[in-house]
Amino acid sequence: MKTINLNTITLIITIAFLVLFSSFENCSALRGNRWRKLKASSTTFNVLDFGAKGDGHADDTKAFEDAWAAACKIEASTMVVPSGSVFLVKPISFSGPNCQPNIVFQLDGKIIAPTSSSSWGSGTLQWLEFTKLNKITIKGKGVIDGQGSVWWNGNGGLPKTKPTALRFYGSNGVTVTGITIQNSQQTHLKFDSCTNVQVFDITVSSPGDSPNTDGIHLQNSQDVVIYSSTLACGDDCVSIQTGCSNILVHNVNCGPGHGISIGSLGKENTRACVSNVTVRDTTLHNTLTGVRIKTWQGGSGSVQNIMFSNIQVSEVETPITIDQYYCDGGRCHNETSAVAVSSIHYTNVKGTYTKKPMYFACSDSLPCNGITLDTIKLEASQRSNVPFCWKAFGELKTEIVPPVDCLQRGKQSSGGIISSKESSC
Ligand SMILES: *[C@@H]1O[C@H](CO)[C@@H](O)[C@H](O)[C@H]1NC(C)=O
Ligand SMILES: *[C@@H]1O[C@H](CO)[C@@H](O)[C@H](O)[C@H]1NC(C)=O
Repeated sequence: MKTINLNTITLIITIAFLVLFSSFENCSALRGNRWRKLKASSTTFNVLDFGAKGDGHADDTKAFEDAWAAACKIEASTMVVPSGSVFLVKPISFSGPNCQPNIVFQLDGKIIAPTSSSSWGSGTLQWLEFTKLNKITIKGKGVIDGQGSVWWNGNGGLPKTKPTALRFYGSNGVTVTGITIQNSQQTHLKFDSCTNVQVFDITVSSPGDSPNTDGIHLQNSQDVVIYSSTLACGDDCVSIQTGCSNILVHNVNCGPGHGISIGSLGKENTRACVSNVTVRDTTLHNTLTGVRIKTWQGGSGSVQNIMFSNIQVSEVETPITIDQYYCDGGRCHNETSAVAVSSIHYTNVKGTYTKKPMYFACSDSLPCNGITLDTIKLEASQRSNVPFCWKAFGELKTEIVPPVDCLQRGKQSSGGIISSKESSC
C-alpha cells in the first residue's frame, strides 16, 4: 500500500510538473506571437486611424500631427497617407530633432493646401515642412497639390510671401520618390541645408505662366542626385543656389519652365559658392533657357567645375547662358566685384533655339575662365542668330554649330581688381 502510494505521488508530481512546464512553454510561445504582431502594427501609423476624414473639406491637420508624433518615436516607422482620399492640411512641420531615424512617409493619397487667407499666417515660408531628420523617405503614388492659382492671380487677401509647397531643412539622407507635386504656391520642392539627397521618379506640374513656381530648389546642400523626373513649371525646373556642391541631375525632362539654372547668385553683395555640378542626359522643351548660370553684379565667391553634357533642347529661347549681369526687376548698376565663374564645360548640346544659341555675358572685372565647348549643334527654329560673348575665355574642343568666333582663347586674370581671397570659397 505504502509503496503504491509513494509511486502514485511521484507520478502525480511528474505529471503536474510536465503539465506546468508545457503550459509555460505554450504561454510564452503565445506571448511571443502576440508581441510580434503588436510590434508589426505599431510601426505603421495611418492618418485615418488618427481621425483624418480625407474628404477634401474637413481640416485633417491635427490627425497628421498626431500620426507624425507617433511615427516619430519609432525607428523605421511608416506614416501612411492612404490612396482614395483627399486630405486638407494646413501649414505643418514634421519636425525631427527628437525623432528616430529612417521614417517613411508613405504618400498614396492626395494632400491639398487650404486656399483661405485665415489658414496662412503672414510670412509662412512653406506649407509642408520636414526638418532636422536623419534618413527620411517620402514615397508613393500620391499627389501634393498647393492649389496655387489663388496665389498666382493677385490673391484674395493672401499673404505677400508665397509658401514653398514641400521643404526639407537640415536633414541628412533624404529620399523623395514616386510622388507628384503640382500647382505649388511658389517653389514646389526645396532642400535647404541637407546632405545625401535622392530625388527620382517624381513629377512636378504647374502651368508655364505660373509665377515663381520653381520645380526643385537646392540651397546649402551637398551630395544631391536628381534623376528620372519630369518637371513642368513657371520658373526654373531645377535651381541650384549658394552653398551647393556635388550635385548630379540626369535623365530629367524640363518644360515648360525657365530651364536648369545655377543661381541667381551674389544678390545684394552676398558671397556665393557653387561647385561640382553635373547636368547630363536631359531634355528641355519650350523653355526660356536651357542650362544657365546667373549672377548679380557686386557679389563674391565662385561657381566652378560645372559640366553640362548630353543636353537635348527644342524650341528653347537661349539654350546656353552665362549671365553675370542678372537683374530681376530693373534698377541694377555695375559693380567691381562679382562671383567668379570658371571651369564650365558644355559637351554634346543639340537641338533648336528661338532667340540666341549661346549667350556669355561675363563680368568686366572678373571674366569667365575655362569655358569649353565640345560637340555643340544648335539650329534656329525661327531667325538664326550668332552667339554672344563678352569677357568670355575658354576653348573650342571641336567645330561648333553655329561657329563661335567671340570666345577668347586662353585665360584672363582679374588684373588685380578682385583678390583671390574674395573669390575663394
Ligand atoms: C569636387 O570634386 C572634386 C573631384 O571629384 C573633389 O576633389 C572635391 O573635393 C569636390 N569639391 C567639393 C566642394 O565637394
Ligand atoms: C554694365 O557693363 C556692361 C559690360 O561692360 C555694359 O554692357 C552695360 O551697359 C553696363 N550697364 C550699366 C547699367 O552701366
